[in-house]
Order: sequence, then C-alpha cells, then structure tokens
Amino acid sequence: MREKARELLAWYDVHARELPWRVGPRDAARPDPYAVWLSEVMLQQTTVAAVKEYFTRFMGLWPTVEDLAAARDEDVMGEWAGLGYYARARNLLKCARVVAARGGFPETREELVKLPGIGPYTGAAIAAIAFDEAEVVVDGNVERVMARMFAIETPLPVAKGELTEKAALITPKTRPGDYAQAVMDLGATVCTPKSPACGICPWMSDCKGRQAGIAAGLPKKLAKKPKPVRQGVAYVGRRADGAWLLERRPDKGLLGGMLGWPGAEWGEVAVESPPVEAEWRDIGTEARHTFTHFHLRLGIRVAELPEGIDPDVGQFIPKEMFRPSDLPTVMRKVFDLAKDGLSEENN
Ligand code: ADE
Repeated sequence: MREKARELLAWYDVHARELPWRVGPRDAARPDPYAVWLSEVMLQQTTVAAVKEYFTRFMGLWPTVEDLAAARDEDVMGEWAGLGYYARARNLLKCARVVAARGGFPETREELVKLPGIGPYTGAAIAAIAFDEAEVVVDGNVERVMARMFAIETPLPVAKGELTEKAALITPKTRPGDYAQAVMDLGATVCTPKSPACGICPWMSDCKGRQAGIAAGLPKKLAKKPKPVRQGVAYVGRRADGAWLLERRPDKGLLGGMLGWPGAEWGEVAVESPPVEAEWRDIGTEARHTFTHFHLRLGIRVAELPEGIDPDVGQFIPKEMFRPSDLPTVMRKVFDLAKDGLSEENN
C-alpha cells in the first residue's frame, strides 16, 4: 500500500497546484500554522477558486493570529461577507482569541479539535499540513478518489466509514502533509467529479473503478430530500442624506452576526413588517437565494425616509460608511435589485 503513496507523492512533486496558503513540495520552509488554519476554515464548504481572494485579503489585513484575535467582530464579519456559512467566521474569531491567549496553535489533531470551528476533518488537515502528523485527512475529494480506487459502490453518506478506512490504509508516515494535499489535488484536477482524466492519473493501473469501467459514476450518493421554499420581505430604506437603514442580525442562527435589511422572520408565507412607518413601494421583483436547507424568495420594498425619523429596528449607516461588500450574498442581491428601483426616484 505504501507504494501507492510514493507514486502519488512523485506526481505531487511535479503537479502540485500553487495555492496562496501552500508551501510547495520542493520548498524547505515550514508552512505557517495560522495560514493553514485560516485556509482550511475558509475551504470548508467552499471552493479553492472562491477562497483564494478572501485568504489573501485576510492575510493582508491580519497577518498573524494575534492580529486577527484583536480585530473588531464587525470588521471580520464584513470581510467574510460573500463566503457563506457565517458560523465559520464567528468561530474563526473565537478560535483566534483562544489561540492567541494560549500562545499559539496546538500541534495534534486531538488538541486542535477542542478549538471552536475545528472538526475532525479540519483538525486532521491542520495537524498533517502544518505539523506533519500522520493523520488521515478525508474531505469530499478524498472520498471520491477512494470510492473509485477501491470500486466502492455503497452510497454516501453510508460509505463514509469504509472510505475513511481505505484512506487510512494508504496514508504514509512520511510527508503526510504533502500526501494529504496530493490526494486533494488529484481529486480536484484529475479524479474530478465528472469525466475524470484517468489517462493521466498516477494511480491509473491500480484503480479498480477504472478497471470495472464505473469510475465516473462513483461515489454513489443517496437521493437528497428536495429543499422547501421559504418566503420573506426585505425593506431597503434610504434616508434623505443617503444613509441606509440596516440591522445587525443576532449572533445565533442563520447569517448570525451579519448586516442585513430589516424584515420579519422568513416562513411559509411572507410577513409584512416595515421597520418604520413610511410609503414602502414593492419593486415587483424578488431576490432568490438557496441556503443549505431551503430556497428563499424575498419580496423587496423600498422607501425614501425623511431625516429625523426614528426606526423601531436597525440603525442608519451613513452613505460613506456603507459598503455593499459587507453584506452576505442574499442581502447583496436584495441591494442590487433595490438600487435599480430607487435610482428612478433619486441618484
Ligand atoms: N481543500 C481543502 N484543503 C485543501 C488544501 N490544503 N489544498 C487543496 N485543496 C484543499
């Protein structure tokens, strides 16, 4: 089995992707645990392509875990906006503060998983990549590669345990960090979900899925439940001086800690609940956004609000301080649609 790891590492030495958080296979430098942790948290549920820009920006603003620990919550939430799964950003800050207080990252998976936002995958990935611990790192890429390599036809998520056992069989004691990243790169660039490039795969001759002609159809997945549709209304109010009426959502729950347009809770039907008495106008188009567990349709109301008005909820953010990029994607969609609606009256 260790022969397989050797073959893959030889492939990685030539084909490793260059990624902003990565120390390449021929570079003697040790990776910065802070950069490894930050990238792995960002990469949970998110693609490498989407993460690159955010990672570089965070490292520029907060180059060390101590810098991040000292950041203001709203600045970090604003910079995270658009990446989604906002509980990650809240845990990121919590984790940075714990790590800064204890004087650095722990170096084993066992200790890492005790930190906020670090689960079994992320703990194993950081231990392997930053500290060269021989941990078994299993993400979606690795599951796909193992299912094909061993022609495992049991569907996910049932097959998880079996796929992890297979991954453990191949994981080497030497260069475990490079090996973990090599399997991920193989999954991302060769053993891709659709039409895998088996002809250039370093594991081509051993792959049972390829031999059986079933590689492209693996891993099998149990059918997902269809997502329900939820409805709501978002109120985009602009004061005469250009300030926008926004609300910071409570820390707990969906979009927790993020800025957004006021509105009642989303549900099976849309509930009208304007944040302040005014002449709200329906712009006639809704914003649509899909979350993990439901599709959302948001009606949009806009109003020009007079100065001196006192809203029941939210606060006015002055024109110069408002950055649309601070909004989570769904609220950004609302803003982009509302802006067009408002611009007829003003601007
Ligand atoms: N996906 C998650 N972590 C990764 C890493 N370190 N390299 C490449 N892809 C990844």
